[in-house]
Amino acid sequence: MTETGFLIRRAEPADAGPLAEFAARIFDETFGPDNRPEDMAAHLANRFGVRQQTEEILNPAVVTLLVEEDGRLIAFTQVTTLHTPPSCVMGEALVEIGRFYVDRPWQGKGLAQRLMAAAKDAARELGGRTIWLAVWEHNPRAIAFYEKHGFRDVGSQDFLLGSDLQTDRVMVAEL
Ligand SMILES: CC(C)(COP(=O)(O)OP(=O)(O)OC[C@H]1O[C@@H](n2cnc3c(N)ncnc32)[C@H](O)[C@@H]1OP(=O)(O)O)[C@@H](O)C(=O)NCCC(=O)NCCS
Repeated sequence: MTETGFLIRRAEPADAGPLAEFAARIFDETFGPDNRPEDMAAHLANRFGVRQQTEEILNPAVVTLLVEEDGRLIAFTQVTTLHTPPSCVMGEALVEIGRFYVDRPWQGKGLAQRLMAAAKDAARELGGRTIWLAVWEHNPRAIAFYEKHGFRDVGSQDFLLGSDLQTDRVMVAEL
């Protein structure tokens, strides 16, 4: 899909290396200042790497969408049916937005809105009629963004960052 100035496309296995590096950097920039370095290091090592992202890209239950500008990765999202939603999530044909990251220079520029539209299209292609996600309770920008795009808070679930047990808000939208 071509958008003005950038391209949204499905990831291929060859994208795993750049994607792992990008995802780890955005996660670290976003959450590093508010978390212990040892918890961040454990999480980054566990969740991001060529092996992890290759497995995700190859998994038919995960759609990984990349946004590129002039061949440079500037955002990505993952839509998935891999995880069982918490009991607070009600609805038919549930699909999750597992990750949704936009690089800093492109935040607040409308790119995230286009990526959300693409994520919802991908969720529909997976057979979804309801989309859910979990977002750290101390991430007000992301929560505000999701609210703007029709998600409502339905409850919470635990999230383990390294050894730190945290609380995510759980949000749901109809597709
Ligand atoms: C979350 C993210 C995708 C949102 O995209 P974005 O382009 O920044 O979204 P917007 O600029 O539309 O911001 C959403 C709203 O939050 C508001 N906002 C901006 N900074 C904020 C802050 N520090 N606290 C609270 N709200 C804030 C904005 O004003 C905007 O509302 P408005 O349009 O009514 O003014 C993007 O910031 C991002 O990728 N962040 C880093 C990774 C991340 O946190 N991902 C989500 C993980 S669940």
